Amino acid sequence: MLQIIILAAGRGTRMKSSLPKVLHPLGGRAMINHVLDKAKKLGAESMVVVIGHQAETMREHLQTHYSNDRLAIVEQTETLGTAHAIRQCLPNIRDFQSRYPQGKTLILYGDVPLIETETLKHGIEKANREQCELVFTAKLQNPYGYGRILVHSNPQNHRFIEKIIEEKHLSASQKLIDEVNTGVMILESKSIIELIEKIGKSPSGEYYLTDIVELNSFNKRPMIAHLVENPQCFFGVNDRLSLAKSERFYQDKQAETLMSLGAHLIDAKSINIRGEVEIGEDVTIDVGVVLIGKVKLADRVKVGAYSVLENCAIGEGTLIEPYSHINQAMVGEKAVIGPFARLRPGTKIAESAHIGNFVEVKNSNVGKQSKANHLAYLGDADIGERVNVGAGVITCNYDGANKFRTTIEDDVFIGSDTQLVAPVVVEKGATLGAGTTLTRKAPANKLTLSRAPQKTLEHWHRPQKLKK
Ligand code: UD1
Ligand code: CA
Repeated sequence: MLQIIILAAGRGTRMKSSLPKVLHPLGGRAMINHVLDKAKKLGAESMVVVIGHQAETMREHLQTHYSNDRLAIVEQTETLGTAHAIRQCLPNIRDFQSRYPQGKTLILYGDVPLIETETLKHGIEKANREQCELVFTAKLQNPYGYGRILVHSNPQNHRFIEKIIEEKHLSASQKLIDEVNTGVMILESKSIIELIEKIGKSPSGEYYLTDIVELNSFNKRPMIAHLVENPQCFFGVNDRLSLAKSERFYQDKQAETLMSLGAHLIDAKSINIRGEVEIGEDVTIDVGVVLIGKVKLADRVKVGAYSVLENCAIGEGTLIEPYSHINQAMVGEKAVIGPFARLRPGTKIAESAHIGNFVEVKNSNVGKQSKANHLAYLGDADIGERVNVGAGVITCNYDGANKFRTTIEDDVFIGSDTQLVAPVVVEKGATLGAGTTLTRKAPANKLTLSRAPQKTLEHWHRPQKLKK
């Protein structure tokens, strides 16, 4: 039986930010969400998050994102170190241990967001199998900033930890140790209850959780260094530079996943994914593309350079030309969107329709094979099939107080620079002359236009500049 405690009370001073560190986004999601989402998959009996710095902001965030998850939130009013943080959880740990006397507690850090469920599972299995307590450790080329692990091996080849020493307390020779504390550890709940209050102040004035290792080894069996093979996943974020490095690592992995599903990324380093992407085969994605939220790209979709796609679904074989922005819209098969198109929430573009440059579509349906190729605004409109919308057409959907819909039936031709003052209907097969301001219904199969008669002034002269 497992309890998980996530430490997230620290100030994150080195971020130099008014936002709590663990709320800084990685791949578009707060770091703490990455940790919680991975932790949830372990199916623990109890999950506790320790908050402290900007507790109200943190509480609100957790309640918004994890209202259904029976998270216990514990507030550490003074951030006096990681052991002090765990001490605040004692009532929760005691309660858990009284229900599961052999229960174990997994400690995670809110600022170590790249952890993987599988890796954690391996450690938990090992702790259960060998009835031991362990610290996840990693060998790093540049161990600077991390607590270092002092191990001694015994004849059974167990790597027991003698001590964990924080960067600032290292001697010159200890600085060369490349095995570090990832922060993640599995302890028996009852040994936390027994030992946590025995941890004294470190020379820096903080209570270090890492000191539990030494207490454990005085008491009974020492803790085991569980060396992981994927050290990048335990990368701690302490400042903007380490956040940027984590982001790069995360994006590289997202790109690899897309490629493994059959996507052609023109430059795998320049796509940016901030959500979940469902992708078909032979999808081509050009440079600078940003995918946000839930994005679904069917087989053979092509996404042109510097397009931003957010919460949308794009049908098979559709071409999104460069610099298009699509948000909460659905596009059917074999359509062509852009370049420089904007599809806003509530838009549905049907099969083989074309939405061209500088066309904005909002909360509208555009039927099969219909085209709006240049400079138009289609808002709150229902457009049928095979409709041609000329350049500069505008649906006037808003009177300053209310919004109204425009209905354009199949096979309509709308001349350039027409304004459709909603609510208004253009019946099947109607043609609207260029420059029309339509305020009433346009009847089916007829030409409707509103236009002042053209005239020419025979005796007119251009004004001349006056002589001074
Ligand atoms: C900590 C470890 C270090 C390890 C590193 C891995 C200790 C003493 N040091 O150092 O050995 O190599 O993580 O990333 O444990 N926190 C609280 N309350 C506090 C202090 C911290 O909740 O009073 C939380 C922070 O929000 C953070 C985590 O604990 O999520 C770690 O704290 P941080 O100050 O970042 O410790 P490091 O110096 O990185
Ligand atoms: Ca840290």
